[in-house]
Amino acid sequence: MHLGVCYYPEHWPEAWWPDDARQMVDLGIRQVRIGEFCWSRVEPRPGEFHWEWLDLAVQVLADTGLQIVMCTPTATPPKWLVDQDPHMLAAGADGRPRRFGSRRHYDFSSDSYLAQAERITRAFGERYGRHPAVVAWQTDNEYGCHDTVVSHSPQAVRRFRLWLQQRYGTVAALNEAWGNVFWSQEYTRFAEVDSPAATVTEANPAHRLDYQRFASDEVRRFNGAQCDILRRLSPGRVLVHNFMQLFTAFDHQAVAADLDVASWDSYPLGALEMFWFGAEDKLRWLRTGHPDFAAFHHDLYRGMSRQPFWVMEQQPGPVNWARWNPAPAPGMVRLWTWEAFAHGADVVSYFRWRQAPFGQEQMHAGLQTPDRHIDVGGAEAAAVASELAQLPTLQTQSTQRAAVALVFDYAGMWLLDVQPQGADYNGLQLVYEAYSALRSLGLDIDIVPPGADLGAYALVVLPAVPLVNDALLAVLRASRAQLVLYPRAGSKVDAVSIPPGLPPGVLQSLIDLRVLRVESLRPGVTDTVHIDRERHSSTRWRETVEARPGVSVLARYADGAPALLRQGRTRYLAGWFSAGLQRLVLEQAAADAGLATVRLPEGLRIRRRGDLLFAFNYDSQQHVLQLPQANWVLGGETIPAHGMGIARRSAP
Ligand code: GAL
Repeated sequence: MHLGVCYYPEHWPEAWWPDDARQMVDLGIRQVRIGEFCWSRVEPRPGEFHWEWLDLAVQVLADTGLQIVMCTPTATPPKWLVDQDPHMLAAGADGRPRRFGSRRHYDFSSDSYLAQAERITRAFGERYGRHPAVVAWQTDNEYGCHDTVVSHSPQAVRRFRLWLQQRYGTVAALNEAWGNVFWSQEYTRFAEVDSPAATVTEANPAHRLDYQRFASDEVRRFNGAQCDILRRLSPGRVLVHNFMQLFTAFDHQAVAADLDVASWDSYPLGALEMFWFGAEDKLRWLRTGHPDFAAFHHDLYRGMSRQPFWVMEQQPGPVNWARWNPAPAPGMVRLWTWEAFAHGADVVSYFRWRQAPFGQEQMHAGLQTPDRHIDVGGAEAAAVASELAQLPTLQTQSTQRAAVALVFDYAGMWLLDVQPQGADYNGLQLVYEAYSALRSLGLDIDIVPPGADLGAYALVVLPAVPLVNDALLAVLRASRAQLVLYPRAGSKVDAVSIPPGLPPGVLQSLIDLRVLRVESLRPGVTDTVHIDRERHSSTRWRETVEARPGVSVLARYADGAPALLRQGRTRYLAGWFSAGLQRLVLEQAAADAGLATVRLPEGLRIRRRGDLLFAFNYDSQQHVLQLPQANWVLGGETIPAHGMGIARRSAP
């Protein structure tokens, strides 16, 4: 477990570099990421390379004892390249090319840009691939940031047609799979198929889903090309990409399969402000982020990372890109850092070393202020570094498999985006709510891809899995876990149609019911749900379900219709249940799975790593966490507001 930082030597006078490096080391930082946006400085004109400055920066950092994460600079192709090859630009849904002047303007489907990306990757790899201080490579930067996965350019459409040809073989098969007889959408040649944009009304959902699948494959192709080069030119180094938060536009599990480490960029306050959280939550967690937000991503990315995951960018203070940008409460930068380690991270790297006084992000905090003084985030990073140094035995703690698995499927996310059927049916939000409910019960969670072996799990939750392929069905059937299926599980088959025997389709082999009708409900409509002797609620979504013999009804809507059903070890939720009801259902399923749970206060969260238990308090008041047989190695059972503690457990 160690700390890192993102650094831009090209932003600062050369004379500052040695000081910067020394101060990083003094602060307790071991690793520094550089280079991801520096293409115009390395190659200011086609083929004219200026390595001297970067060589020097690498040397200065290395001589000071820092390990280097070198990046390929492909997220920011320079102006001359755009002018030389305008077809490398991605196009929006209106067909207009993106313009130069910010970043990520390239098209994943441009063969000529791919060749340029390979060329510059080779140049970087040849230059620094065997440098002893270079321990890792970051490919590009945040694939998909600023809505850049899908392009509607002519080159993207051309490659989409090839992709379709490979997938379906014949146009007849494509027409059949997409149901193109509907509205006379039948094609006679692949060359007739366009991107699903600018249609008069909604394009065919199968067309849209396939376009997203195709776009996702393009990201994998682009990343894979860089990985192939770097593996050759920089043997033994870790390959990593920095994925984003609450972002599903491509299949991250597929891209991560070509890397060694999945890392992600953690901006809990910006995310709280920009995503679905309600006004009350936005105020309550204004300076902390939502208590499950960072943990969710730690578990998500750990689940696809071959080696322990990293946080590549950690928010150090106010950011510049949300609607409002408050400062973290004192203590939160420390808490976020420890929380990553608790969830199995090897590295937490802060973004960025020093706030830039120019450019788009001049209002974004760093560990240092623009005038070279340590800022609040810097002081908290230093605190973590010294705590890590005082607790060397922590380093031996590895993350064990959790007892609970949450299945996360990117294609399912796309499908729900393509056909939400209700304005506020957000699949990712439902996944997050399920995760949050589990975590509020003190459970550790693994977030796993759909084909993952489920053999060792006691409880498996599927909050948003409308598409169930053979592999997923097989592992679900083979597992002995308690299964919790959320609404819409198995509700569609490829390429987007209703399963012949009605939803939940092939999952009927686990729970024998038919979903006869679904309704989406506008805000303000609330259904009461009766369970045991409690009253709870459901909003947004309601299913009318027919249960066949062998299926019991555990909860009913006020009119007597089934709301929660069960057969053997499988439960099915026929609605979007309130947080309290989700927690109750998952608590009962956990009990049936033999798992101990505890109802934690809203702002208090725990996580185990090895024989350590970490406690985090997101609340602005203290909480007491009484743990029998625990020996606190950091803090104690009274966890202060925005504070944390670590206890060694002698029992599980
Ligand atoms: C990330 C990005 C960084 C920087 C940061 C600002 O999305 O990777 O380059 O823009 O956000 O918060």
